[in-house]
Amino acid sequence: MSSSATTALAPTPAIGAPKKILVLGATSGIAESTCRIWAAQGASLFLVARNPDKLAAVAADFRTRGASFVDTAVADLDATETHPSLLAHAINSLGGMDVAYLTHGILGDQSAAEQDFNTAAQILHTNFMAPVSLLTWLANYCVQRRAGVLAVISSVAGDRGRKSNYLYGSSKAGLTAFLAGLRNRVDREGVTVLTIKPGPVKTAMTAALPGSASFADVDAVAQTIVQAIDKKTPGDLYVPIKWAPIMFVIRHIPDRIFKKLNL
Ligand SMILES: NC(=O)c1ccc[n+]([C@@H]2O[C@H](COP(=O)([O-])OP(=O)(O)OC[C@H]3O[C@@H](n4cnc5c(N)ncnc54)[C@H](OP(=O)(O)O)[C@@H]3O)[C@@H](O)[C@H]2O)c1
Repeated sequence: MSSSATTALAPTPAIGAPKKILVLGATSGIAESTCRIWAAQGASLFLVARNPDKLAAVAADFRTRGASFVDTAVADLDATETHPSLLAHAINSLGGMDVAYLTHGILGDQSAAEQDFNTAAQILHTNFMAPVSLLTWLANYCVQRRAGVLAVISSVAGDRGRKSNYLYGSSKAGLTAFLAGLRNRVDREGVTVLTIKPGPVKTAMTAALPGSASFADVDAVAQTIVQAIDKKTPGDLYVPIKWAPIMFVIRHIPDRIFKKLNL
């Protein structure tokens, strides 16, 4: 990223103004639910997604619900070379940015990825490389202004590799580690980095998984995310909160036992 690309951008607005929020992966179930809350609060939203029809539908819904401004861009976020111009355009359209919310991701096909590196690489690219590209640009933008919240959805799956989804899990583990390091770098510059770690949530991503009917309600998850972003508390957010102690236990199961479990 060139510094001249960011210096030309509009300033972040005064405290008390409606939030200016950039949403990357805006058609995701969790993003949609979160944006409905922000829309009702009168926020300004810039929405990025790759499916134009779904994007137009959610944008229309957020306008109806009270968003003070909604603009969109269709983009495949795997195309990292397009990120600098996409992000600069989005922030200019919003007239600044208070929050960047990164929600896109794929579960991928674990069985196929065990046999085929290209499938594995696709999961790592979408869930890790693309967010790293977006966050590198966004973090530098925020550091220049000494403000901003970078709220990123990782997963409890990144806390420990399991045989049922270790490609997805390792992509999220990489993302969580990247965010921890980024926070360590930019927190002192006035930039908040929030790592959101949902347990299983009822969305399109998990609809085909066994037991999905008992997964967390997406609206409750979204409510918790909105509150955490409002508080600007940096760190890891387990949502629902019960996943914090559960993952503490899972992380501490000795490997000689863990390797025999079917998780
Ligand atoms: N649901 C869960 O149980 C759960 C648990 C932990 C973490 N998460 C994480 O939460 C985030 C949101 O997931 P979700 O549950 O809301 O699932 P979802 O409804 O399936 O949303 C995933 C979104 O990512 C988008 N996407 C994927 N690849 C993309 C790309 N290359 N460019 C642009 N958009 C792309 C998809 O777009 P299309 O609609 O066009 O495919 C979709 O809108 C993901 O990062 C996921 O890993 C979910």
